[in-house]
Amino acid sequence: MTTKRHLIIGMHLVVNGEGKKGALIDEQIAFAKRAEAAKLDFVFKADYLIAHPELIAKMKGTVGLDPSFLMATVARETKQIGLVTTVSTSFNPPYIIARQLQSLNWISEGRLGWNLVTSIDGASNFSNELMPSSEERYAKASECKDVVQRLWHSNPFEILEANGDLEKIKELVKPINHDGEYFHVKGPLNIPMHPAGDIPLFQAGASDIGRQFAAAVSNAIFAATPDIEVGIELRNDLRKRAVELGRSADDMRLLPGLYFFIGDTYEEALEMHRKAHEHLTIERRYIALESVIGMDIRHLALMDCVTANMLPPENQKVRSKTHAHLVRRYIIENEPTVEELLERPEVIGSAHLVAIGAPQDIVNQIVKFYEKGAMDGFIAVPGGPAKSLDLFFSDVIPNLVERGLFRADYEGSTLRSHLGLDV
Ligand SMILES: Cc1cc2nc3c(=O)[nH]c(=O)nc-3n(C[C@H](O)[C@H](O)[C@H](O)COP(=O)(O)O)c2cc1C
Repeated sequence: MTTKRHLIIGMHLVVNGEGKKGALIDEQIAFAKRAEAAKLDFVFKADYLIAHPELIAKMKGTVGLDPSFLMATVARETKQIGLVTTVSTSFNPPYIIARQLQSLNWISEGRLGWNLVTSIDGASNFSNELMPSSEERYAKASECKDVVQRLWHSNPFEILEANGDLEKIKELVKPINHDGEYFHVKGPLNIPMHPAGDIPLFQAGASDIGRQFAAAVSNAIFAATPDIEVGIELRNDLRKRAVELGRSADDMRLLPGLYFFIGDTYEEALEMHRKAHEHLTIERRYIALESVIGMDIRHLALMDCVTANMLPPENQKVRSKTHAHLVRRYIIENEPTVEELLERPEVIGSAHLVAIGAPQDIVNQIVKFYEKGAMDGFIAVPGGPAKSLDLFFSDVIPNLVERGLFRADYEGSTLRSHLGLDV
């Protein structure tokens, strides 16, 4: 077995549809098969438990399925690629999470990963008016994750060898008797653990408390790092925190979102990017800025500079501290014009690294981030038309393989094996 570290590459299963309406299950399966043919580590699906008009607009007539059900279908149509589903700890009871994820791990034969999110929105659909504070969400996430993992271990794989031996079953399958601040769960779980071992944990959210949580428990973090400095700072900080918590720095893999637009030329790719955002009127950009940091700049002219002293106080309640911090940082460091600010991915998108260009430009950008220590890999988020995705598979990935930065073939068939967690 080779242990050389290489890029970890996941793919967000976002189908463009290009005019088609509906759930596009066949397209998503075909997409996952392409990702598997390219030997990517995993396909990934984010999830939000609200029907916000902005989110609906973004989906352009496609139907957002519950990602865990989608992954169950994808699992039976693929053989080796990892499958990372998103489940929020703010809204689901741990027994259900543990059972559903362990079921998916059996359905996929050990290829599952859990993207554990604390969610930005959705409380009003779960008997609460407001979202709990970020501190409370992470406290609940921490307890929930512990309960889920203990439940997995409460019914070990060895039970399948017990052959109806009641004494052996009683010895192996044990209650967890959890009595905590948020949850009271007796256990044991009603499904045994898959022999692949613990399901890898992904986490998203990079506030101070989010980082501490990620450094303590996760195997990978899905991050919003719009530029290289943010990536380097976040990766160094996570690695340092992991070591302080008694883990190894390499236990932590930083995977920024890479929102890509690839054309034959830079100009073609730039045009793809422009088209993808042309529906965003200036008013929608103002609203986006307001929702991220609570600042209204409509009174300024487009060429006016936005400066640090205009920022609202930092201690106000925001939806995501990660995203608010990124926008504040950009303003403080760059004093941009209103026009520049309203173009930024932190304002109009998910704050991912935006990669625009010909295949070679994209490869160069990835290599630079990797070599400078701003990423351990990335989650590719397709932004452009079908051609952009075609070039990603036909040119970008083979180029990374040629450079020895990515695998030419799988060495195993579990997500733990792809991520190098068992070496
Ligand atoms: C890159 C990234 C991806 C995220 N994906 C999701 C998601 O799919 N579903 C969700 O409910 N929340 C998602 N979140 C929100 C986080 O789970 C978290 O609630 C939020 O970022 C607030 O935590 P923070 O204060 O540490 O930033 C995401 C956050 C980031 C930064």
